[in-house]
Amino acid sequence: MEEAGREKDRTLAEEDPNAATKDTATVNTKPAKRYPLVSWIAILGLIMLVGVYILSLSLKQNGMLFGLMQTNMIEKEREKPCHDPTIPDLEIPYIHYPTPNTYDREECACTGVRFFAILSMQRSGSGWVETLLNSHPNISSNGEIFSVKERRSNITTITKTLDKLYNLDWYSSAAKNECTAAVGLKWMLNQGLMKHHQEIVEYFNRRGVSAIFLLRRNLLRRYVSILANAHDSAMKQLNGTHKAHVHSKDEAEILAKFKPTIDRKTLITELKQSDKLAADALVNFKNTRHVVMYYEDVVSNRTKLMDVLDFLRLPKRKLLSRHVKIHTKRLRDHIDNWEDVNSSLKGTRFESFLNGRRR
Ligand SMILES: *[C@@H]1O[C@H](CO)[C@@H](O)[C@H](O)[C@H]1NC(C)=O
Ligand SMILES: *[C@@H]1O[C@H](CO)[C@@H](O)[C@H](O)[C@H]1NC(C)=O
Ligand SMILES: *[C@@H]1O[C@H](CO)[C@@H](O)[C@H](O)[C@H]1NC(C)=O
Ligand SMILES: *[C@@H]1O[C@H](CO)[C@@H](O)[C@H](O)[C@H]1NC(C)=O
Ligand SMILES: *[C@@H]1O[C@H](CO)[C@@H](O)[C@H](O)[C@H]1NC(C)=O
Repeated sequence: MEEAGREKDRTLAEEDPNAATKDTATVNTKPAKRYPLVSWIAILGLIMLVGVYILSLSLKQNGMLFGLMQTNMIEKEREKPCHDPTIPDLEIPYIHYPTPNTYDREECACTGVRFFAILSMQRSGSGWVETLLNSHPNISSNGEIFSVKERRSNITTITKTLDKLYNLDWYSSAAKNECTAAVGLKWMLNQGLMKHHQEIVEYFNRRGVSAIFLLRRNLLRRYVSILANAHDSAMKQLNGTHKAHVHSKDEAEILAKFKPTIDRKTLITELKQSDKLAADALVNFKNTRHVVMYYEDVVSNRTKLMDVLDFLRLPKRKLLSRHVKIHTKRLRDHIDNWEDVNSSLKGTRFESFLNGRRR
């Protein structure tokens, strides 16, 4: 279509000089007697020229509009033959039939794909949950794509990155075969997500992206994990390498030996900040299709993940991860100055964090 349009423009442009020379030739050779007729012809020619000019201009302008409409139409057209009448109308905006630029989906071209984003915070179990989800043959979750600063510089780069991901053109170890039925990423709230939340919500709703919140109830446990992770990042306790996640009990034990000392002056501020961040995120994204999951609930009941598979309309499967939990004891056994922490939180709304193994 585009090619054809350009051809037309070119032939129109070529006609112009011809028409002009013809006209002058007519004017020069015709005798004065037939002046009125000649002038009529000249005027007619002029009108035609102007008409052709206007037509070519409007064609050029419409070309852009047309281009946009065309891509839309292409997407619609591609979706049509794949349309599955058993899919309820309400679900249709969330099912896509991407056509990757880099390969052919072949026999899976009509395997509907759901777009998702795991919205979470550091040290909230999202690494673990993501590996569990990626053990499903139809799920491709591509990690913390926006940990790279340039990709989240502004909404343009964010949109471009998401477009590539959701078009199944993103390469990562999580990339599945042509039969991917759910594609997404892990996105931390502090990776441009809150900063650009309005535009991102608009994008999610326009493109039918579902949000999977993964939050942690016990923010004190999360804080211990942050401090311990920062410590390991500096000390590299496992044979000189830093590991944010471990795959064996031995490694977990080594990392858990470190007991952070918590600054009681900043503790409450820290907890308030992360509490507010999570609460704000839930408000900001409340108008998207979403589900909220708590890390503690998944730890105590792995079946909770089946709710996510339901949410993504995927077949139920047993999900596996090699991740081993690092801090498994009572909280008081993981904090060096427990007495300080205990007295700091007593009587505050965070007091409940002190109790329980995992809550
Ligand atoms: C999941 O992937 C398999 C092949 O890997 C494919 O046969 C199947 O149709 C996919 N299931 C869904 C629900 O897309
Ligand atoms: C967005 O960020 C990219 C990369 O940092 C930059 O090249 C581009 O000019 C920026 N665009 C806008 C509209 O600010
Ligand atoms: C790290 O050291 C432990 C002993 O402390 C050893 O058992 C293990 O094999 C080492 N791992 C690597 C990757 O070198
Ligand atoms: C575990 O989670 C599933 C899914 O949410 C729920 O149906 C089930 O009742 C839960 N089991 C327990 C013991 O809480
Ligand atoms: C906190 O300290 C009080 C004593 O001041 C003690 O009774 C309580 O058991 C402590 N809480 C925890 C969770 O250790």
